[in-house]
Order: sequence, then structure tokens, then C-alpha cells
Amino acid sequence: MKKLLLASLILTLPTMVSAADIEAGKAKSVVCAACHGADGVSAVPIYPNLKGQQEAYLVSSLKAYKSGQRQGGMSAIMQPQASMLSDTDIANIAAYYSSLK
Ligand code: HEC
Repeated sequence: MKKLLLASLILTLPTMVSAADIEAGKAKSVVCAACHGADGVSAVPIYPNLKGQQEAYLVSSLKAYKSGQRQGGMSAIMQPQASMLSDTDIANIAAYYSSLK
């Protein structure tokens, strides 16, 4: 029984570890810094901070801008930004901003 538990743990472990690349996300975030700040803290009150935001939330909001699902507010500014990102870019950028404490 113990062996079985151990085997299933080893098998599921790789899927639990995030495959996102924080360094690649940091490199991709250079364009984002113009509005969201160099360290993810925006200098402009109407632009949101991204520093320390939940990774899953960043992924879902970027995908929602990209697909056009997220509308209203100032989403028209964000949509073209998100549309330039691949799913891998989104995962890496989300990992980067959520890693900032
Ligand atoms: C030209 C300015 C500008 C640039 C460049 C920009 N953003 Fe944004 N971003 C905004 C604005 C404005 C909003 C708020 C949009 C709204 O009202 O929905 C926003 C919202 C967001 C949100 C949602 C935040 C939340 O709390 O819901 C995320 C995530 C985000 N941006 C990520 C990025 C990333 C990643 C990049 C770079 C690829 C980027 N942004 C580039 C202006 C910008």
C-alpha cells in the first residue's frame, strides 16, 4: 500500500510543478512595464498593479483580454497587448509577476 502511494505521488509530482519560466516572463514583461511599472507597481493610478498578483488570476485575465471576453472599463487598451501573447508567454508572464513579493 505504501509503495502504491509513493508510486502515485511520483507520477503526479511533475504535473504539480509549474512549467512556467519566470526569466522568460520577465523578458517579455518589458513592454508591460510602460504602463504597469518596472516592478509591477504602476505609477499611473488608473493602471492596475500586477506585482504579487495570483498566478492563476493573471493567466485567466490575460486570456480573457486576448479572446475579447473581458470588455468594458479600459480593456480596449489591454486587448491589443494580450493579443500579442502566446499561451506560453502568458504562463511565463503570470509566473513572473506573481513571483514578485
Ligand atoms: C498602454 C498601457 C498598457 C500596457 C503596455 C499593458 N497594459 Fe495591462 N492594463 C492596462 C490597463 C489600462 C488595464 C486595465 C484594463 C481594464 O479596465 O480592464 C490593464 C490591465 C491588465 C491586467 C488585469 C489586471 C487586473 O487586476 O484585473 C493584466 C493582468 C495586465 N494588464 C497585464 C499586462 C501585461 C502582461 C502586459 C504586457 C504584455 C500589459 N498588461 C501591458 C494598460 C496596459
